Amino acid sequence: MIDFKNVSKLYNGNVKAIDDISMTVEEGEFVILLGPSGCGKTTLLRMVNQLESISDGEISIQGQNVKQMDKIKMRRNTGYVIQSNGLFPNMTIEDNTMIVPDLLGWDRKKKRDRFNYLMDLLGMNPDDYRKRFPHELSGGQQQRIGVARAMASDPPVMLMDEPFGALDPIIREKVQDEFLAIQKEVKKTILFVSHDIDEAVRMGDKIALLRDGSIMQYDRPTDMLIQPKNEFVSDFVGKDRVLRSMSLYTVQNLVDTFGLKNKEETILDTKEISIHTSLRVAISMILNQEADQLVIINDAGEAQGSLTFDLIEKFLHQEVKGA
Ligand SMILES: Nc1ncnc2c1ncn2[C@@H]1O[C@H](COP(=O)(O)OP(=O)(O)O)[C@@H](O)[C@H]1O
Ligand SMILES: [Mg+2]
Repeated sequence: MIDFKNVSKLYNGNVKAIDDISMTVEEGEFVILLGPSGCGKTTLLRMVNQLESISDGEISIQGQNVKQMDKIKMRRNTGYVIQSNGLFPNMTIEDNTMIVPDLLGWDRKKKRDRFNYLMDLLGMNPDDYRKRFPHELSGGQQQRIGVARAMASDPPVMLMDEPFGALDPIIREKVQDEFLAIQKEVKKTILFVSHDIDEAVRMGDKIALLRDGSIMQYDRPTDMLIQPKNEFVSDFVGKDRVLRSMSLYTVQNLVDTFGLKNKEETILDTKEISIHTSLRVAISMILNQEADQLVIINDAGEAQGSLTFDLIEKFLHQEVKGA
């Protein structure tokens, strides 16, 4: 778990890059720091592993104040991946990957086993790459090695600063997918910087949207899309983006996915809705507080179950994330 408590950052005593941020990243959660260039994403990330000092407030990793961690402990606890993968050009892939384990004094066998394991995880044959050098690999492969290196000592926390930003769009999506698949297995606590809303929605369990060093909204992607807290958020995620995508689905699609849900007798504020109505209209009715529960009516005019905000939200979450 990463905990930020009233964290601020002043550069040169006057540039306020981070302004009183408090947020919690839960164990095993994948959180995106999103926002336009210069909003403070990199600064916030680098304060976690103390590559930048904290001017005010406190950051802790699993209950431990990061200021009190020495360099070795920090390396053990956090893996760090950056866009220009930072591989050393005259070190082999295996040596590059095992820099932190080296620092931690692992023996040869333990390092080799770990290298083999990580390469398998990334879908790369360890023996094909062990003795090669970074320039012999494609950009996508180098970036995968960057990820492997950050995971080498199995740190609970991964800090990733636009790690796939330099890749072309097709390779990028592939590497994103691979990384998501790996995350499903390893369940790291991840802070991941991006300026790309599509990447954020695809990858994140939650998104923290920043502007001028402050958090505008910290939410699940679908909640941010459906209920942006202010003008800045809705502009950033793209106005009407969700509503537009919702007009692609009808109540029928949702029923096909989840089956019929019985009307909840405790929710009194209801309204009828045809099974052929688009979800865009359905959610507008709920958000405009026309009703808290929509009763689905079939072609014969019979009640067919009910629809609540939670259910629509669940459906969208699944659709948007393609899960
Ligand atoms: N080393 C530095 N010295 C002075 N100002 C900096 C430094 N690094 C970043 N800044 C400023 O802090 C703000 C946030 O920068 P940064 O964290 O790099 O944003 P992002 O990663 O979101 O693009 C910007 O105004 C930037 O100019
Ligand atoms: Mg940055």
